[in-house]
Formats: sequence, C-alpha cells, structure tokens
Amino acid sequence: MKIDISSAAPLKHATAALVIGCFEDARDELFTACDAALDGCLERLFVGREFSGKINTTRLIHTLGRLPAERLLLVGLGKKGELDEGRLRQAAGNAVQALRGARVASFAAALHLAGNPETALEAVCEGTLLGSYSFDEYKTRDRDERFRFEGMTLLLPKGGTRKEAGARVAVTGAICRGVDLARDLVSHPGNVVTTGYLAETAWNLATCHKLSCKILEMDELERLGMNALVAVGKGSAEPPRLIVLEYRGAGDKGRPVALVGKGITFDSGGISIKPGAGMEEMKTDMAGAAAVLGTLEAAAALRLPLNLVGIIPTAENMPDGKACKPGDVLTSLSGLTIEITNTDAEGRLILCDALHYARTTYKPAVMIDLATLTGACVVALGHEASGLMGNDRRLVESLKRAAERCGERVWELPLWDEYGETMKSDIADLKNSGSRDGGSITAGWFLKQFVGKTRWAHLDIAGTAWSDKARPCSPKGATGVGVRLLIEYLRGK
Ligand code: BES
Ligand code: MN
Ligand code: ZN
Repeated sequence: MKIDISSAAPLKHATAALVIGCFEDARDELFTACDAALDGCLERLFVGREFSGKINTTRLIHTLGRLPAERLLLVGLGKKGELDEGRLRQAAGNAVQALRGARVASFAAALHLAGNPETALEAVCEGTLLGSYSFDEYKTRDRDERFRFEGMTLLLPKGGTRKEAGARVAVTGAICRGVDLARDLVSHPGNVVTTGYLAETAWNLATCHKLSCKILEMDELERLGMNALVAVGKGSAEPPRLIVLEYRGAGDKGRPVALVGKGITFDSGGISIKPGAGMEEMKTDMAGAAAVLGTLEAAAALRLPLNLVGIIPTAENMPDGKACKPGDVLTSLSGLTIEITNTDAEGRLILCDALHYARTTYKPAVMIDLATLTGACVVALGHEASGLMGNDRRLVESLKRAAERCGERVWELPLWDEYGETMKSDIADLKNSGSRDGGSITAGWFLKQFVGKTRWAHLDIAGTAWSDKARPCSPKGATGVGVRLLIEYLRGK
C-alpha cells in the first residue's frame, strides 16, 4: 500500500475516510471536535451502545458533508491508561480490515494522534501494512472487481516533521515487505514453492540486495555427508537443497548471527504417512525458511549494522521406493548416528545437519532456528505463541523481550537433560522420535545435540505460522511469523 504524509489538520482534510481512535473511558480533542462537527452523533453512538471504544471494535459512519472527510471510521482503542504500541498496531490492523470490508480504498489515518508521538506513527503504519495483506494470485474470476487498497495518508502530529515521519514509514515499510515475502511463500501451494523455488527466491534476494548466495545441490550434500537432509529428500522428485544467504552489514567485523529455517515444501509424513484430513496444511512446513528469507530481506533493506547468515535446508517429504524408512540408520553431518523411527519427524533431521553446518562453517556468535516442528507445540500453546527453547539464558531473555515489544508472542519450554531419555536408540546414538509426551521439548532436545557450545535458540512456529481465523494484524492464512520478532531482536542487539 502506498503511504504518504500530510500536515493537514484532520478536520480540514478531504478523504474517502478519516480514521480516528476512540477510548472506552475518555474523549480526546480530536474526538470532541469531530463530534461537534457532526452535531453530537459520536456521543449518541456511545449512549446508544452502538459503539463502545473497546479494543477490536470499529464503526464506520457517513459525514454527509459536515466534514471534508466523506466517512469517519471510529476505531476502539480500549482504556486510555492501557494504550500502548501493541494496542495501536492492533487498532490499525482492525481499521484497515474494516475498510477492506466496506471497500474504501483510500483513507487518512489520525489514529496515531491518540498515542505517544515517539512510537505511535510506526505502530499505526505497521498495523495498517500488516492488516491489509491479501493473497489472491490463484483467483481468476472477477479480477476487475477485486478490491485493492490505493493508499493511506498519515496525518502528521502537531510539531512532527515530514522528514522524520517519512523515515519511520520507510523503516516500517521495509520490515513489512519482509513479512509479506514470508507470507507469500507460505501461501503459495507446494507445487509452486518447491525446493528450487526457495533457492530461486534466495538468489533473487541476493541480486536485489547485494547479498551473497550459494545453493548446495544433491551431489554436494552427499559429498559433504549431509545424510540426514539427503535421507528426507530422497523420496521426492524434487531434490533437497541447502540454501545459504549472507548479509554483511558489519563488513569483516564480528561473527555473524546464523538464522536457520526449516524448509519442508510439503510434509506428507513420508513412509510414516500422515492421515489425509488436513494434510494440505503441510504446504506451510517451510514457514521457518520463509521467515529467514523475509528477515534477510528486511535486514538488508534496513542496512542493519551486523552480519547475518541465513541457512535453509529444504526438501519435500514424500513416500516412494527410494524414500527413507523407519528402522533406517544414517550418519548425520556431525557424525552422530540416527535411527529413523518415524519418517514424519523429518524437520529435526534436516535441521540437525543445517545447524552443524552453520556452526562449523560460520562460527556464529548466536544461532536461532525457526521451524514448524511439532504438532505437540500446537497442543501445548495453541495458536497464540511460538514455543521457545535454548541453551543460553541471555539469548532466550532477549528473544522474550523482543517478542513482548513486537507482539509476536513466545513461550519458553524447558530443555532439561531428562527429556532426552526417550530419544536414546538401541542401535544408534539417537532416534529421531521418542514418546509422544513432551513432543516439542524432545524435538528441541534432539536439536540441542547438534549445536555444541554455540549460543542457540529454537522457535517452534507450528501453531503460529498459519491462522484459520483473521487476527487484527494478520488476515486468515499465512502470518509471516518470525520476521518481526527477529528484526526486533536484531535491532535491539
Ligand atoms: N510438520 C510437522 C509438524 C506440524 C504439525 C506443523 C502441525 C504444523 C502443524 C512435523 O514434521 C511433524 O510431522 N511432526 C510430528 C513429530 C512426531 C512424528 C514425532 C508430529 O508433531 O506429530
Ligand atoms: Mn513431519
Ligand atoms: Zn514437518
């Protein structure tokens, strides 16, 4: 969406819709002025309980020529004392979804005038961009009538400068483009987003943003001994790959942060095949990879002053004559041997080779992996938070703080040694799946065996990468989870 900035006063600005924030328990200057221009219509809505100002509510009214704005969109902000950036972001997301519903394509936002001048503009801009996302590339009918947003005009707060607001809009735009890239990759079906498609996407990012990119193909993976990644990819006509994308924002100074993303372009379960119902959702099993690509794009666009390396093991998990089978034993890149007891626990297999590769090749200061790793994480946390595990208190705490700030919630799960008991194999060093109990933790414990002493954190995004319902800043479908969290973490470093 196009965003421009105007220093016009809200009550003097002609637009199809003026968006203003309303508190549940207070009336600010702008509200009072709009109410006066509309002969007390707004107060009436409150009295008649047609609008409450509660968070996650909106109300669109026509101004019938009493204001230069044709319509007024009232957006609930909740209680005045509880207003923060998260609420404003949410309110902006709700506003833009209400506008889509009413097919209002251009509007002026004054929502941020209700908040802290330092942070409100970014929050409103972010909520608007995130909430306006839609994915309709495969709908061929009625293309001409399809709704498209034209643009938003941000009304400058008193004393605010265009230059400063413009810079904030640019930063937010770069982050949200990263989120949208991740969402698009997850939204596309598995027959389009193949391992080759992910590789090409990385390659294109490298060209646009001056990153360096290398793609390790099957022969190279075999030569290096990435047998766990190869084993998972063997049952598919699409070959497995390892994608490496490097951003150097700090030149030769400093060890990089390594971001590792699970890139299973479709997870049928393999020989341990999944039940048919809902299997289509397994096209989203590359959401970790998508988050890594989106984060690298945003980091490069923001020119963050640090070095990053994105590492994406990618494969399609399919049953086939050549597929790996339960009982097979393989030697991972690290040398640890793994007995495959369930071919559906494939994420940890491709990740264990990628983590070992990342650690030994780049000696990263910090390593963070993102993966739609376990159904058990969805059982534990539902769709409201990603599971967070790690071997380093400081890293885990910084990720929690970043999550708090950006609104992408995480919840820490423990990684005590005892959880590893069920992962011991009779024949090999490890099994790839143990008992069902504590399933996201045992998966995290498995990954931990491959990170050595490197500071590492693992985000299980199985419950948060895709949403069956619309949320304020994330319409139904792919959420792009991880990008804003990682960027927030990296900016705060
Ligand atoms: N990709 C799935 C996990 C998943 C489940 C992601 C639901 C998104 C939504 C993963 O590869 C998987 O199949 N995990 C198994 C592990 C088990 C076999 C140990 C699971 O969670 O059942
Ligand atoms: Mn699986
Ligand atoms: Zn999977």
